[in-house]
Amino acid sequence: MTNFWDDRYSDGKYIYGTNPNLFFKEFVMKHPIGKLLLPAEGEGRNAVYAAQCGWLVEAFDLSNEGRNKAIRLANEYNVNINYRIAGFDSVEYVSSEFDVIGLIYAHLSKEHKVGYYRRLLPFLKVGGFVVFEGFSKDQTKFQKINESAGGPRDVDMLFSEEELSMIFEGLEIIKLEKCNTILSEGIGHTGEASVIQMIARKSSFNL
Ligand SMILES: C[S@@+](CC[C@H](N)C(=O)[O-])C[C@H]1O[C@@H](n2cnc3c(N)ncnc32)[C@H](O)[C@@H]1O
Repeated sequence: MTNFWDDRYSDGKYIYGTNPNLFFKEFVMKHPIGKLLLPAEGEGRNAVYAAQCGWLVEAFDLSNEGRNKAIRLANEYNVNINYRIAGFDSVEYVSSEFDVIGLIYAHLSKEHKVGYYRRLLPFLKVGGFVVFEGFSKDQTKFQKINESAGGPRDVDMLFSEEELSMIFEGLEIIKLEKCNTILSEGIGHTGEASVIQMIARKSSFNL
């Protein structure tokens, strides 16, 4: 998997562009500044945007090429981000360290998505938020007619609303919505797409 992403990112261009995902951007703009974790952050577009807004940003990803590009972008905008090479299975932070965890197109295999996402929840403060955007299972329709629509071709890596409710069971779901949108994120996500957006709050220590 690392080589797949290193190969994709080795092109000079930013595959998903240098602007943040719009749903993430809107969340960041509306919420009080705090400490943010961005797992699977790739080339750094979301991390650099949040850092520009004054957030303290930690990110991780398995891809060295992704990290290199993220650091380059942060330098271009003269902001600091902390970006580790790490995987969901082993990354460690301090308990209750983050105000927000942003899962933006952090697609994982069927056997890992529950365990890897839930592994991050102890790092979130009580009262903190998970903000999520990923492709829904309906994205397969758009992938068939547009090869740049984006998203894994393995339907098990795509999401349904029911699955997200189950994965994040125990969090207070504030928004959970499947919608069609037009993506214009670099060359990787372009055109009509079916996404699921979620905002959920951790309201208990027992996670
Ligand atoms: C579609 S890209 C999304 C990048 C970024 N979140 C964005 O929206 O621009 C998916 C990213 O997930 C990362 N990834 C995949 N499996 C991972 C794992 N087990 N641990 C950490 N990162 C992973 C890949 O390296 C890749 O950068």
